[in-house]
Amino acid sequence: MNARTLDRYAVMGFPVTHSLSPFIHSRFAAQTGQSMTYSRIAVPAEVFQREVSAFFAGGGQGLNITVPHKQSAYVLADQLTERARLAGAVNTLKSQARGLLGDNTDGVGLLTDLTVNLGYNIAGRRVLLLGAGGAARGVLGPLLHAGPARLTIANRHGDRALAMAEHFAPLGPVEGKALQDIDTAVPFDLIVNATSASLHDEVPQLPREAVVADTLCYDLAYGRNDTAFTRWARHAGAERTAMGLGMLVEQAAEAFTLWRSVRPDTRPVLNALAAGEGWD
Ligand code: ATR
Repeated sequence: MNARTLDRYAVMGFPVTHSLSPFIHSRFAAQTGQSMTYSRIAVPAEVFQREVSAFFAGGGQGLNITVPHKQSAYVLADQLTERARLAGAVNTLKSQARGLLGDNTDGVGLLTDLTVNLGYNIAGRRVLLLGAGGAARGVLGPLLHAGPARLTIANRHGDRALAMAEHFAPLGPVEGKALQDIDTAVPFDLIVNATSASLHDEVPQLPREAVVADTLCYDLAYGRNDTAFTRWARHAGAERTAMGLGMLVEQAAEAFTLWRSVRPDTRPVLNALAAGEGWD
């Protein structure tokens, strides 16, 4: 079988050069015996819609969508899953007879990483979600669904956090505020950094007292080494920190399952990445 006859998948983003998704999906495909290719396509915002149309018109089966296109993909999809509608963003597109299906697997990816890979139970916990942009919105629904005692959204611009809390209030006990108004009388059990600060090697200005030794500090961003936030959290006294690499692999597994109707085992891929494979 040559490459032309294999089912085609890709990740579209800008920049996308260092995306680990081709490595992850090729491992999933080998493991489950799927005949498919998966490539990276760098697409600037101005031509996103045209490139998506061309990909599917040319026989492509599915796309992962990453920064900065998740909201554009949401607008472009013909049908949406409930979780994509709630997130207001799409990270997975699938070609179907009735047009393009848009899904969002980021939130479930985070929850699987927290609960299965890290053995962390959110039910009854006090959770702090940092950020009120697209990434925060993508994980908020699934976090509330997991049943925290209280979820506080804190953002540099507090009004955005307030608006987001208002929107998601029907789903659970959520409040929104500015970073400087975080109440540290009772420390948090789990802090999730969904700001884009780590991408600029910065840390959201939150009080050190928000963190105690058993606060799990999770950064959606990841690198081969610590992010600015996980470094800060350990200095603040947290004994457990995690980065979003597990979330990346789990959201990929969810997309792969949607496309191929077979669920890959994420553990060997997580182990390979931890051992340094797949990084450019
Ligand atoms: P994304 O889709 O990655 O979430 P976004 O929608 O632009 O990107 O949102 C970026 C988020 O990171 C916002 O919550 C932003 O805070 P503001 O809404 O107050 O701008 C937050 N952010 C970015 N850099 C930050 C920094 N250095 N400190 C604190 N928050 C930061």
